Amino acid sequence: MNESLNRYASLDGKVVVVTGAAGGIGRSIAERFAGQDAKVVVNDIDADAAAGVVASITDAGGTAISVVADVSDGDSVAAMFDTVMAEFGTVDVLVNNAGLVSPMLHFFEADEAWWRKIIDVNLTGHFLCSHKAARIMAKAGGGNIINMSSGGATRAHRAFTAYDATKGGIEALTRAMALDLGPYNIRVNALMPGSIDTSGLGLDDRKLRGENVPLGRIGEPIDMTGAALFLASDDASYITGDVIKVDGGMLAQQRSATVDIKPPSDFPKVEDL
Ligand SMILES: NC(=O)c1ccc[n+]([C@@H]2O[C@H](COP(=O)([O-])OP(=O)(O)OC[C@H]3O[C@@H](n4cnc5c(N)ncnc54)[C@H](O)[C@@H]3O)[C@@H](O)[C@H]2O)c1
Repeated sequence: MNESLNRYASLDGKVVVVTGAAGGIGRSIAERFAGQDAKVVVNDIDADAAAGVVASITDAGGTAISVVADVSDGDSVAAMFDTVMAEFGTVDVLVNNAGLVSPMLHFFEADEAWWRKIIDVNLTGHFLCSHKAARIMAKAGGGNIINMSSGGATRAHRAFTAYDATKGGIEALTRAMALDLGPYNIRVNALMPGSIDTSGLGLDDRKLRGENVPLGRIGEPIDMTGAALFLASDDASYITGDVIKVDGGMLAQQRSATVDIKPPSDFPKVEDL
């Protein structure tokens, strides 16, 4: 293939900070980016698990460091970016992935402390990390930020009022930051994961959740990484303020497959086509 026909947007040498990367989706993104020769900063509050992710990346020949910091604490975030600057000298990509899903509480069970904690980590955490990273990126001539939304931004989960509010806020924040940061050549987008198995669900739960998804299966953390790579790369150079759904079609459907009038089990069989 003539190379001029295949402009491949590489992450070679780019410095990428992934928050909440000690497990789940963040870990998968950190490992995938390291596989594209990015220098990866594995942030988390779980020092041991973050160190484990760094070991798995460096053992495989990649470059990574772990930085323990609480994204909801301004001083902790400032110290993290100081460490990143001392170690790598810049930040090209920030993936705001850290988020609290639990505890789940019905609206009547909720209290102010629960509300504030989830808002602090999920929404304020995105603001604090972006606020530090964007200054570094602007001085360097550009960069890009990937936020982590949820289907809850568009369609609610039961007992998730605080969580869903943060995710709606994250999508609004993504658009607002895209406008303020566009003139500095900083793109800001969000990923919207569907149902991704990050807690090692049992076979029965995986099957049950998968039946609710048009593609017929629950997502894996690795499913998130292609869209993350795309948004981080120059192949997405004209995309900002956008949200990419990676949900197997969940948000596209009106009724779940199990209760639809014509369920997939009644669809024409391939051999009859
Ligand atoms: N898994 C899904 O189905 C799903 C669906 C929609 C959205 N999301 C979003 O994707 C992101 C990752 O979800 P996941 O399922 O991988 O979750 P996870 O719980 O497996 O990972 C989250 C990580 O964030 C870390 N963390 C928590 N508080 C932190 C803080 N204050 N500072 C730094 N790190 C902190 C945790 O230690 C953990 O390692 C979250 O923002 C979540 O809301 C997940």
